[in-house]
Amino acid sequence: MRNSQKIKAVITGVGMYVPETILDNKYLESIVETNDEWIKTRTGISERRIHKSGPTSDMAAKSVLDLMKSTGLRAEEIDLIIVATVTPDMFFPATACLVQDAIGAKNAWGFDLSGACSGFLFALETGANFIETGNYKKVVVVGADKMSAIVDYTDRNTCILFGDAASAVLLEPGEDNKYGIHDSLLHIDGSGKESLYMKGGGSLNPATHETVDNKLHYIYQDGKAVFKVAVKGMADISVEIMKKNNLKSEDIAYLVPHQANLRIIDATAERMGLGKDKVMINIGKYGNTTAATIPLVMTEYYRSGKLKKGDNLILVAFGAGFTWGSIYLTWGID
Ligand code: COA
Repeated sequence: MRNSQKIKAVITGVGMYVPETILDNKYLESIVETNDEWIKTRTGISERRIHKSGPTSDMAAKSVLDLMKSTGLRAEEIDLIIVATVTPDMFFPATACLVQDAIGAKNAWGFDLSGACSGFLFALETGANFIETGNYKKVVVVGADKMSAIVDYTDRNTCILFGDAASAVLLEPGEDNKYGIHDSLLHIDGSGKESLYMKGGGSLNPATHETVDNKLHYIYQDGKAVFKVAVKGMADISVEIMKKNNLKSEDIAYLVPHQANLRIIDATAERMGLGKDKVMINIGKYGNTTAATIPLVMTEYYRSGKLKKGDNLILVAFGAGFTWGSIYLTWGID
């Protein structure tokens, strides 16, 4: 709870990048045993985007350039770049360094943050804390993932779910205490590590011919197990942050959920007492883009005029780790 604080971090700009190449359910029907109807009814996904022409940093940089274009932010003004991703270009250097170089942010430092599908929320909270110290004026928080780089397109359990995208927000100190990030509840529980993970490539299973043959460099997910905990985790934390801040459903303009499965989103909204018109959804077009889903859907709603200054938002996510959490904020852009 940070209501009494003098400096509040406000989102003052947004940007996004989605690749042009579309992978629709019909195409997936041609490569694995699945069908459009099954995918749509079980997940809400019709198509996803695939970034063929470059790595995660390329999408991330393009989303920041879009943010700069729409806000007038100059590269040299940026103090800090935080990139939430589980698909960094390489182990090191950090994707943040590659983004910094690509956009020419010569006065910035930065780092990557690995929070899987909760990565953007963790990065937003981290960025907000830097602003609240008073030492930082312009913090860029990016959610970016090239999931197609770690998806096994022979595994129908996972290949239908994921897509590629990047989206960025600018955090600045607010002039008015009404707008900005009011509260957050964030959690990790590593006992869930084997329900959703990439087994190979790290220090546990460094890359060998054997790890590649055994497909350890792809996403493994126990979908049913994750579904159960995700439904409960997202709904519980959303209700908890509402109660903690004395919010009724009529006080909330939008729930901004991580886009993993429409059924998980619907269950969360129902527990919060929110109608469908109060839930931001774009999973049908992009699938699960991991760290990118939440800023991406906020950017689209803002740009289409549906998200307005003064709107109260509850952001919520659940992901590998397990990681989960919720952030309560008031939208501050005209
Ligand atoms: N097409 C057709 N059938 C499929 C399929 C596909 N793409 N994928 C799985 N199936 C089959 C299964 O093999 C199973 O068949 P069986 O009963 O003969 O074994 C049947 O459909 C039901 O599978 P199940 O896993 O129970 O489906 P589900 O309703 O749980 O949906 C997910 C699967 C993956 C969509 C769902 O579990 C899910 O969304 N999980 C959580 C995902 C998530 O949130 N992940 C990230 C958190 S960030």
